[in-house]
Amino acid sequence: MDKIVIFDTTLRDGEQAAGSSLNVQEKLEIARQLERMKVGVIEAGFPVSSPGDFEAVRQISFAIKDASVCGLARAMAADIDVAWDAVKEAISPRIHVFISASDIHLMHQLKKSHEQVRETAAAMVRHAKKYLADVEFSPMDATRANPEYIYQLLTDVIDAGATTVNIPDTVGYATPLEFGRFIRNIFENVKNIDKAVVSVHCHNDLGMASANSLEAVICGARQIECTINGIGERAGNAALEEVVMAIDTRADLFNVTTGIDTRQIYRASRLVSELTGFPVQPNKAIVGANAFRHQSGIHQDGVIKMSNTYEIIDPQKVGVPSSSLVMGKLSGRNAFKQRLSELGFTLSGADFERAFIAFKELADKKKDVTDRDIESLMAEDKRTLSEYYHLDRIQVTCGDRGIPTAAVRLIGPGGGELADAALGTGPVDAAYKAINRLVQVPNKLTEFTVNSITEGIDAIGEVFIRIESDGVSYTGRGADPDIVVASAKAYMNALNRLLSAKNAGQDK
Ligand code: KIV
Ligand code: ZN
Repeated sequence: MDKIVIFDTTLRDGEQAAGSSLNVQEKLEIARQLERMKVGVIEAGFPVSSPGDFEAVRQISFAIKDASVCGLARAMAADIDVAWDAVKEAISPRIHVFISASDIHLMHQLKKSHEQVRETAAAMVRHAKKYLADVEFSPMDATRANPEYIYQLLTDVIDAGATTVNIPDTVGYATPLEFGRFIRNIFENVKNIDKAVVSVHCHNDLGMASANSLEAVICGARQIECTINGIGERAGNAALEEVVMAIDTRADLFNVTTGIDTRQIYRASRLVSELTGFPVQPNKAIVGANAFRHQSGIHQDGVIKMSNTYEIIDPQKVGVPSSSLVMGKLSGRNAFKQRLSELGFTLSGADFERAFIAFKELADKKKDVTDRDIESLMAEDKRTLSEYYHLDRIQVTCGDRGIPTAAVRLIGPGGGELADAALGTGPVDAAYKAINRLVQVPNKLTEFTVNSITEGIDAIGEVFIRIESDGVSYTGRGADPDIVVASAKAYMNALNRLLSAKNAGQDK
């Protein structure tokens, strides 16, 4: 069976999604999960775009051993030089050079002739080849370009040494049959195509990114560029979980493999959602909260009798934790440790003790503690590990008569206690105002969402917020059975991320 290279661009195209703000540590954490999942290539960033992106690509290049690490570069010598600097320590480095190829882009954006673009593309691939063997080339907006021109361009760059040629449907304009035909025609019209891997990079503006990528595989493409949860510029990119699971589930049709450890998919999805602050829609294929839930009586009856009556994928195959085992306040240390390890968390010593105390506190408030609750506890624990200010206590009074009032106590950077109180228009406003009096970092709240993690009146509430400071946005999350406390935790999380970025002198 042929192998399809899964080229993950969550950290580059995914990061281009409006409102995304990952710091270097967070990018590193996502890269490690991608490595665990066994993707072939991690596009770690666009090194020339910012010092933060350069540093992330550099650190990922050092850390990752089992995947190629790629840096994006415009077809410009300076970009390529910086990209090389960022990826040169990787065990398997790649540089991805791109230039616009459609008439629309050439005329209105690039203001270059077709000949100039052909010359630049070949010259810049040759420039990259001076540094490394593995060079990818993309003609941007290929699906709206003249196909004959794309064939010439690809012939030139392959002659110049490109080892992968990527066909971007940059604006998500193509339809599956049309895109598949384009890929087939590339094989027929580019005489040296046997010297390069044909890749596809589909955007989701018309909701067809995954379908287009899969049709391209049927027509001979051997690399798919995709992102976790389908995040990316505008409507996003082809979702990794969708293309991988389609290839796996319909092996009869595709007859190729991806080499992905599918059991890591759910964890990757949660991690990316948690760190980017982009929630996953409940009905999202493969990783949405409802993807394996059966509501209608007929479906439930079928699944109880034989799961494949209504389930084409075993949820455990993508790492969705089974929610059958519920823990409670009588569950002991061993049971908790065992459940943690089944969920992929290996904790010992002080880390385990802290998690166990948090679990017991939750079990006191909530009768049944589910896997999702435990995941949420672990995420909350991780968020509070490297804080400048820690929310130690919060007390709120509110109601339809009184004036909402909040008193907060924080533990500051030096370990000292700081306390203050404030009035607000509601309990969350009061809590945020009290925190502002202590932390004193000017910012604006731009987004605020509350969701319940599990069902029931005692469910954990998860609050997601976005704040803006000096034109940069920072996300924050907090989880607690009390949604005002969860809101305060989310605000502390966003403020700590803001302070950490400012102190590191990063732009994100
Ligand atoms: O969508 C696009 O065209 C891109 C290129 C840089 C490959 O992201
Ligand atoms: Zn793209």
